[in-house]
Order: sequence, then C-alpha cells, then structure tokens
Amino acid sequence: MLQFKTIIATSIAKEVDLKPEEIQEYIEIPKDSKLGDYAFPCFRLAKTLKKAPQVIASELKEKLTLEEEVIEKVEIVGGYLNFYINKETLAKEVLQEASSKKEDYGKLSIGEGKNIVIDYSAPNIAKPFHIGHLRSTVIGGALYNIYNFLGYHSVGINHLGDWGTQFGKLIEGYKRWGTEYDIEQNPIDALTKIYIRINEACKEDESILEDCRNNFKKLEDGDSYCVELWKKFRELSLKEFEKVYQLLGSHFDSWNGEAFYSDKMPEVVELLEKSGKLVESQGARIIELENTEAPCLIEKSNGSTTYATRDLAAILYRARTYDFAKALYVTSYEQNLHFKQVFEVAKLLGLDPKYTDNLIHVPFGMVFLKTGKMSTREGNIVKLEELLSESITRAKAIIEEKNPNLENKEEVARKVGIGAVIFNDLANSRIKDEIFDWDIILNFNGETGPYIQYIYVRTKSVQEKAGYLPEIDNIHFDVLTDEASTKVLKLLYSFSETVMQAAEKNEPSIVSHFLIELAKAYSIFYSENRIMGEEKEKQDARLYLTYVTGMVLKQGAKLLGMEMPEKM
Ligand code: ARG
Repeated sequence: MLQFKTIIATSIAKEVDLKPEEIQEYIEIPKDSKLGDYAFPCFRLAKTLKKAPQVIASELKEKLTLEEEVIEKVEIVGGYLNFYINKETLAKEVLQEASSKKEDYGKLSIGEGKNIVIDYSAPNIAKPFHIGHLRSTVIGGALYNIYNFLGYHSVGINHLGDWGTQFGKLIEGYKRWGTEYDIEQNPIDALTKIYIRINEACKEDESILEDCRNNFKKLEDGDSYCVELWKKFRELSLKEFEKVYQLLGSHFDSWNGEAFYSDKMPEVVELLEKSGKLVESQGARIIELENTEAPCLIEKSNGSTTYATRDLAAILYRARTYDFAKALYVTSYEQNLHFKQVFEVAKLLGLDPKYTDNLIHVPFGMVFLKTGKMSTREGNIVKLEELLSESITRAKAIIEEKNPNLENKEEVARKVGIGAVIFNDLANSRIKDEIFDWDIILNFNGETGPYIQYIYVRTKSVQEKAGYLPEIDNIHFDVLTDEASTKVLKLLYSFSETVMQAAEKNEPSIVSHFLIELAKAYSIFYSENRIMGEEKEKQDARLYLTYVTGMVLKQGAKLLGMEMPEKM
C-alpha cells in the first residue's frame, strides 16, 4: 500500500537538512480530521533554519512537490503544515490491498526470524484457576496472536505453579486425611480444603510444619511416594484447567512449569556463587540488590529453592532453547517486585545482554467483582469455569429474547458469552483495575465484545442480502469519498500500524480500541449511506467496503482471541 506518511516525509526531506525517518517521527495525526490527515510541526526546523515556524511553513509549502493523486491539498495552520490525502486514492489503496491479501490483509513480516517467548496463564496446581489467571490467559493469548501477525514466532509457555513448599503441605495433608475427600471428582475443591486444613494444623503444631518442609525436600530429592502424589495432584488439576482452556480456545506450546526446573537450579546457584554476589543471611542465601526494596531469596535455610530461583533457571533455559528476541511475563502487578528482582539477578548469570535486556514484565491490574477482590486466600473465590458458563447462559437468554428463531443458538451463545468476557479483559489499558459487571460486559450497545460481533454480523447480513461480491476492478472508488466512508477507510488503512503499536507496548487494548472505533465508524457509514437499491456503482463500492470492514473486524477479533458468529 502507498505509505502516505513516508511520501510526505520524503518530500519534506528533499527541502531541508533532515533525514526522512526523522521527519516521519515528527509527523502527527491531527485529532480533528478537519485539520488534515497528517501534520508537520514546522517548529521542529525553527532552530536549524533560524526562522519562525510560520515562515518555514509557507516557504516549504511552495517548494513541496506532491502529486495531487496522493496528497490533495496542503494548508498552513499556525506553524503547522497540514496534509490532506486524496480520498479516492485512499479508497483504492485499501480496497485493492484487501482484495489481493484477503484474510491476510494487514499482516506484516517485520518479526521474521525472531522468537517471542510469552509466559502466561500459569495457574497453580491444586489451587483454583482464578480470575487473575483468566486475565493473564487472555492478555497473553492476545499478545501471542499479535506477534505472530507481525511475522514473529510466538512461543506460548504455561509456567504452571507445580512446585514449591506448598506441595510438602499438600502431601502431608493428603497423608493424614486423603480418604475423607473426593479427590478424583472435584480435585481442586478437595485439595484446597486439605490445604487450608493443613495450614491450620501447621499453625498449631510446629512439628507438622517441619514434616511438611521435609516432604518438599523429599519431593525435590525424588522420593517415590511424594513424587507419585505430586503427579496425581498435577494431572487432576490440569484436567480441570483444561476445561477453561477449551472454553477460551487457549493454546500453549510448552507446559513446562516450575517443576521442570527442579533439576536445573544447581547451575543457577553455581553461576551466582561465581558472580560473588550470593551471600548468607540467617542461614539462607540471598542476593542483595541496589534497585529493589528487598533482596532476592535464592535458597532457603533448609536448602529448598524458591519461586525466584525457578524463574532464573527458566531464563537460562529459555535463552538457550528459544534464543528469544523478547521474553514476556504476563502477571498481575502484584508481582512487580518479584520480576524486578529476578531480572536484576538474571544479569549475574553470564548470559548475553541481548537476553537479559529483553526480559519484560507485562503487568496488569486486579479484577474486582462488584463485591470486592477475588482471591484464593480470602476465600471469595469465583470459579472460572462457572463464570464462563454463566456468561454463555446470559448470552443465550439475551439471544432468546432478541432473536428466538436464530439457528445454532448454542454456538452463537458460546461465541458471544466467551467473547464478552475476553473483550472485557482487553478493553482498557491492562494496568487498570477492572470491575467485573455483567450488565456492562454483555451490553450489545456498549463498547463491548458483543457490540463488535453485532456490527460484524451486520456486515455479513448486508453481503448476504446482496448475494454477490463485486469485482474489485469494477469498483468506482470516488463513491467512497464522503466523510463516513473515509473514516472507515482510514481506520482500515491503519490496521497494521495499530497492531504494531499494540506489540510495541504489549498492549492488546490498542487493538480492542481500534475494533470499537471501526465498528462505530461502520455503523455511522451504514446509517448515512444506503447500500442496497442504490445505483450499481454506489451499491458495489459500498458493498465492497462492507466486505473489507467485516474481514478486518473478524481478523482483529481473532487477534484478541474472540470468535465471530456469522449471525446473531
Ligand atoms: N503461578 C504464578 C501465580 O499464579 C504465576 C507465574 C508467572 N510466571 C512466572 N514465570 N513467574 O501467581
């Protein structure tokens, strides 16, 4: 596609002593489209040219040679040069590109040959898959798709919490009361209960706590009884998590959890010893850090490793196995300190800085139910599988009411219900805390997943009514130069750029926001422009725009992990 911005930058660069790339960085997109499609702030040149921005603007305007077919008009406002792109050319560029690329419209290859490791979801064995893990699953999954779309190779890792002292406790609890609970039927429920009970017992009797610690030590040393139990807890928990992943359509390339690193930690300790920074503190071994509030605990006083040590071993492993360009960690901001510590200590492992400089924590905000924070410790647990089923049930009820004769109601309800939850997690900048409110997430007229699906379905029904897709060669692009059509086209034009920004900031909400804008713009286009029953030229052009809009809505939603119903 024609790169309007590059063309403008190149033509300015010919007249002044700046590189096109530099100029391109200065070019802005005016908030108000009446001020043009691109603007160049001439004060950027004031210093070098020793002239007032206004003067520079008018001199430049005279000199610039821009084809009218690309840039329709240039105007001076204040110290700005405002550029108006040729609307017909815009329509032609976008629709022709979409016609040749189809579903691949917007895809790029800027990431070719580069691996992006994304560590996400990572629930803990024998504990509930809670709403924070849902957010991680959804955000990580979206980033996975976003990077792939740009040509990178994403590697999705589910760093399961399947190791740690809590397993010593669970084993002890199971040993004592295992037969009292129905572990096979409801593993997470049963194990959570056992865990709470053994914690109580530990508080009352220090020797039980000692037993628990020993169990974990035995597990680390490969004791067969402990290992068997651990395997059982892991398998049963995974089976339950799998239900959630099925509903969400989640995918992972690796299920190497914390346990996978149990035999890879001696190397970490050795490397840290070599660095000379590993010091004794009250029987434990720690690394003091300058930039963090607390030291990083590497080895507990009984020789057990920690969550941080396992993450360090994982960094070594991932650098060697995946030679990553970036390694992302998607967790709530509650783990900010943990990752700050781990990333600092990682610099002591002797890895190439190209790895340690590209460890990126991607934190997100907490999820609050209207009743307060949801967490395992406070007992205010919302079971995720139940939450997702409820969303589907609610979507079904809305469909029953609005469109009782719809075919495949179950299927549509699933897509709408799940899409609503996914979109809600991605709608706002990820660091913001989120309030989970059914009335908001399932509102078909709000800035929601169902709204995007609804507009997508409209594009489908327009096409279905038409019963044909016009030939691109017969399209009269000048039909699509009104304000509403141009708004849609400009958004379509910016699709790649939007996905690129989302990757740069690891912020899927940039794509969500784009989809809302596109859906709204199409809705305005639709109400202002008759499509069917118009003269053929208009009908065809508008139909084609409808087709491309639908395709991009669907592709964008897919990036977020949302499926589109074809009818609703
Ligand atoms: N299992 C952890 C939790 O539930 C998240 C793990 C995140 N990933 C990591 N490499 N530390 O909080």
